[in-house]
Amino acid sequence: KSDSSTKTLVGAIDQGTSSSRFLIFNATNLELITYHQESIQISTPNPGWVEQDPNEILEKTILCMEKAVEKLGELGYDKSDIKVIGVTNQRETTILWDKKTGKVLHNAIVWLDARTQETVDFLLRQFNTHRDCLQEQCGLPLSTYFSALKIRWLIDNNHHVREAIKENRCLFGTVDSWLLYNLLSDDKNTVHVTDVTNASRTMLMNIRDLKWDPKLCEFFGIPEHILPEIKSSATIFGYINKGLLQGIPVGAVLGDQQAALVGQQCLTKGTAKSTYGTGCFILYNTGEDLAYSRNGLLTTVAYKWNDDDAVYALEGSIAIAGECIKWLRDNLGLIPDSKSTETIAASVKDTGGVYFVPAFSGLFAPYWRSDARGLIMGMTQYTTKAHIVRAALEGISYQTREIVDAMYDDSGVRLSKLKVDGGMANNKVFLQMLANIVGINVATPSLFETTALGAALAAGKAQGIDLFTLEVENEIETEMSQYIPRIQGKQREENFSAWKKAVIKSFENLT
Ligand code: G3P
Repeated sequence: KSDSSTKTLVGAIDQGTSSSRFLIFNATNLELITYHQESIQISTPNPGWVEQDPNEILEKTILCMEKAVEKLGELGYDKSDIKVIGVTNQRETTILWDKKTGKVLHNAIVWLDARTQETVDFLLRQFNTHRDCLQEQCGLPLSTYFSALKIRWLIDNNHHVREAIKENRCLFGTVDSWLLYNLLSDDKNTVHVTDVTNASRTMLMNIRDLKWDPKLCEFFGIPEHILPEIKSSATIFGYINKGLLQGIPVGAVLGDQQAALVGQQCLTKGTAKSTYGTGCFILYNTGEDLAYSRNGLLTTVAYKWNDDDAVYALEGSIAIAGECIKWLRDNLGLIPDSKSTETIAASVKDTGGVYFVPAFSGLFAPYWRSDARGLIMGMTQYTTKAHIVRAALEGISYQTREIVDAMYDDSGVRLSKLKVDGGMANNKVFLQMLANIVGINVATPSLFETTALGAALAAGKAQGIDLFTLEVENEIETEMSQYIPRIQGKQREENFSAWKKAVIKSFENLT
């Protein structure tokens, strides 16, 4: 049962690629009180295409809020104890809808979708330019990953979209905008907003002045009037206008990787975290300085609190991490569930020479090769399922090593440890492998829900509930588990150079 001192609660919507969740934290000690989660379908209508239904994303998110509030009631709290809600979301995923009807014009094109390769090639040819031509303005390389390419593809390939734009009926949003449009708008007031972290993933926002950049819009042929208003990450975005949580303010919006950076308390320059969800994203806080990478890392907004200056990050993005384990389960039926990878991988001492490059959506950082394709190589008759599972976990670890090396090369500073979170951070065999392959200590936080926690911390800030206390930071820090590298440097480097050879093979076009 709750008492009055524990009745300030903060909610967090966490809309990821694989699921929607609503979590409720106690604002006095950041304890997770309760949550509800619903998985989200992914469809792959063509090779390289990845779509989701925006209505399912919305409905499942609302369902999570209602179910979590029901559970809260059973624990002796009242929904009015929730003072503010933060939103965190899968980034880049692109939704276009009709502002007259509120109906979507197309399925959501998910960040992983690589259908825009031809659009990328076309733009490179049209402007006779190179992959990094917009890095100075938006911090990103020209890639299938980012929203602008997906919007442009929809304009080129869908006449409903073209008509809606011509008639000024079309709105664009990443998942945060879509959710807020539906949760906050009412008859009098339409809420079409996003935050700087999500906007920094579109390729349309100028990374310095944090505004939509007319030159970038022109480059992609995207009219500015379809874009949402850009706000800071912690500010009152509006009030929920339907369902059980009606009247509660939304005080924060952050892309999920930026939220995990905040939730991991990486709030000072030089701190970094690595999240293993569908993909893996390593963010390195560069403070108020803009840093540009020479090694394929992205320059992105980490967060911006109210009217303060923005804080930036360098990001190493890996498209496929947990998704590779899901693929072993769902596409190959090789494992019964994700958890089993821990025991299966531990049943063999190494991969028996097998390397697995999970380039299902091409390879993101540091290569940015959308033509790369997945491969498993080095198999013999000796190879078993256990070797392949182990090679999959190693493949995710090698990709992490490549990003950590790139960060070192760009910053001249070696990370002293890697703070990890996300679903795969529950897998101890994987974490030890990661420490061995990257060659630095790997640490996990006491509270694994760092993404939702980051959104909750930011939302508290907007509502005047200061959750960024020193005690919290110390508590999270001291309760971390550590994994220390246990292989010799020579062995590590030999294995890594074999991995690099496998990566080169993944670029070879078979047709
Ligand atoms: O950029 C894509 C990222 O936001 C997806 O995150 O947690 O769904 O792997 P996740």
